Amino acid sequence: MVKARKIVLVRHFEGQPRTEDFRIEEEDLPPVKDGQILAEAVYFSVDPFQKSHTAMHNVGDTFYGAQVARIVESRAPGFPVGRHVVAYWGWRDRTVADVGSGRPEPPLYVSPPRLVPHLGDLPLSLSLGVLGMPGNSAYFPLLDICKPKPGEVVAVTGAAGAVGSVVGQIARIKGCTVIGFAGSDAKVKWLKEDLGFHHAFNYKKTDVSTALKQAAPDGVDLYFDNVGGDISTAVMSNMRYRGRIVVIGAISQYNDLEQQKLVNLPFTFLAQQLRLEGCAVARYHDRWEEGISQLTKWVREGKIKYRETVTKGFENTPRAFIGMLRGENFGKAVVKL
Ligand SMILES: NC(=O)c1ccc[n+]([C@@H]2O[C@H](COP(=O)([O-])OP(=O)(O)OC[C@H]3O[C@@H](n4cnc5c(N)ncnc54)[C@H](OP(=O)(O)O)[C@@H]3O)[C@@H](O)[C@H]2O)c1
Repeated sequence: MVKARKIVLVRHFEGQPRTEDFRIEEEDLPPVKDGQILAEAVYFSVDPFQKSHTAMHNVGDTFYGAQVARIVESRAPGFPVGRHVVAYWGWRDRTVADVGSGRPEPPLYVSPPRLVPHLGDLPLSLSLGVLGMPGNSAYFPLLDICKPKPGEVVAVTGAAGAVGSVVGQIARIKGCTVIGFAGSDAKVKWLKEDLGFHHAFNYKKTDVSTALKQAAPDGVDLYFDNVGGDISTAVMSNMRYRGRIVVIGAISQYNDLEQQKLVNLPFTFLAQQLRLEGCAVARYHDRWEEGISQLTKWVREGKIKYRETVTKGFENTPRAFIGMLRGENFGKAVVKL
C-alpha cells in the first residue's frame, strides 16, 4: 500500500495564518485505476490566494494549493511515467488522481492537471512561477486588458513578487516606463538594478503619491493592482486621462474581516475617464499555452529574469506560506520537497 503525507487545516485562520493552524497526517492511497496516475510532488507552490479563498478550505481537509509532481505510475494516455504535471491537489506528497477525459469539470478557479512542457535546462519549479499561473496572471491581464503602448507609464504594486516582477518586465519589453512599489529597500534595488524597472519605491518608507508625482509628473497610464488598500487608492488618484487599471489582487486586505470601502475615487474616475477591470487568470484557460510559450521565449532570450525563494522540506510548507504573506519572498515562493 502506497502512503501519502498531507498537510491539513486544523482551524480557520484568525488574521495571519500560524503554523499551529496546520497538522501533518498520513493516509493510504488507493490503487491506480484506468484514467488515473500516481504522482509524487517535487515542489509545492505557496500563493496569496490560499489565504484569500477561505471558502476553499474545510477544517480537516488537505490544504488546497498547486504543486508540480512527477508521474510514477500511469493508466492515463498522454500522461507517461517520468513526465511532470502541475495540479491543484493541495499540500500532499503523493496523489492518485483522474487525469483522463472523464475527469470532473473543475470549478472556475481550478486548473485541470496540466502536463509540464519540456523545459530543457530551465528549473522545473518555474512551472509554478514565471512559466505557470503567476506568469500568465501577469501576461494576460497586462497585454489583453491594459494593452500597453510604447511610451506609456505603467505602475505595478507587489512589484517584487511572482506576478509583479513579470508585469514590470513585460511592460519594459513593450517600451513602457515602469514604476514598481515593493516592501523593502533590497527589493527596490533588485527591481532597478536587475529587472530594469525605471523607478522603484519602498512603499513602507515612501509616500506613494509623492513618489508618483516625482516619477510620473503627467500621471500613470496603466496601473496593475496586486495589493489593493491605501497604496492603490494613491496610485488611482494619480492616473492620466483615460488611464486603464486592472485589479488582480488585494493582498493588503486579505486579513481584514470587514470589507474595505473605496474612498474618494468615483470623482477621479469621472474626471479622468478611467477604466477599471478585475481579472481572474482562470478566464484565460483556453489561451494558457500561448502565455506560457511567449514567457518561455522571453526567459530563454534573457528578456525576463526570474528569482525564486525556495524553502526546503515538506514540513516547512506552512512556514513558507506565512513568510510569503509577510513579504519574505523575492519573486516566486516555492517549497522543494
Ligand atoms: N486574479 C488572479 O487570477 C490572481 C492570480 C495570481 C495572483 N493574484 C494576486 O496577485 C497578487 C500577487 O500574487 P503573487 O503570487 O505574485 O504573490 P507575491 O507578490 O509573490 O507575494 C506576496 C507579496 O505581497 C506583498 N504584501 C504582503 N502584504 C502586503 C500589504 N499589506 N501591502 C502590500 N503588499 C503586501 C509582499 O511583498 P512586499 O514585500 O512588497 O510587501 C509579498 O511578498 C496577490 O494579491 C494575489 O492574490 C491574483
